[in-house]
Amino acid sequence: MKHFSLAEIQTWERFYRANFINSLTGFKSVSLISTKNANGQTNLGVFSSIVHIGSNPALVGYINRPLEAAPHTLANIEATKFYTINHIQPSFVGIAHQTSAKYDAAISEFDAVGLTPEYLHNFEAPFVQESQVKYGLELQEIMPIKLNNTFLVIGKIICAYLNENIIQADGFLQLEKANSMASNGIDAYYETNLHSRYEYAKPEKISQKI
Ligand SMILES: Cc1cc2nc3c(=O)[nH]c(=O)nc-3n(C[C@H](O)[C@H](O)[C@H](O)COP(=O)(O)O)c2cc1C
Repeated sequence: MKHFSLAEIQTWERFYRANFINSLTGFKSVSLISTKNANGQTNLGVFSSIVHIGSNPALVGYINRPLEAAPHTLANIEATKFYTINHIQPSFVGIAHQTSAKYDAAISEFDAVGLTPEYLHNFEAPFVQESQVKYGLELQEIMPIKLNNTFLVIGKIICAYLNENIIQADGFLQLEKANSMASNGIDAYYETNLHSRYEYAKPEKISQKI
């Protein structure tokens, strides 16, 4: 196996280096974060740094890049406190990717790419109608990361929408049945297959497939 040292990595051309580093951490969930500003103007962007923080309370975080690079989602979340996270399916992955373009604040990515805002059960932020798995969040905390001027944005899950046929008897969601996609780096999208599920692991017994 080839060894890559930091010293070598730092000599690489910046886009090559970014692709290498961005994909090294592996497959990630990828979703559209949907918001609106105080005037009701909607905004949509692709985000793949989404991470489970805890299940009770149900907390989800994502990393927002520095404000000069990705200003609109974070500003809207700060202003209105509510946002939605919408899984991406193959039928609209191309236009979902297009929402990562730097559109002017006055332009809604919903209109620019042709996705449909959907307001459900009076939740303040719009959902993406085309998405088959989506959830609404209320902002809890924005933690600036001084190291590189990014932000860890943490929200509490308030509601979720998905087809019941993907829920297993124990509550586990078979996301591959909903065709939810995964991503790697900042431009690669994957369809998924379940390989295996295992019993809760305990030291005294090797856990078995369920
Ligand atoms: C696959 C993919 C994943 C991305 N993940 C993130 C992310 O986790 N955090 C982030 O700040 N930007 C991410 N971006 C870039 C944003 O989509 C882009 O900066 C977008 O314009 C942000 O828009 P905003 O200014 O409306 O917030 C990603 C882009 C792509 C294509």
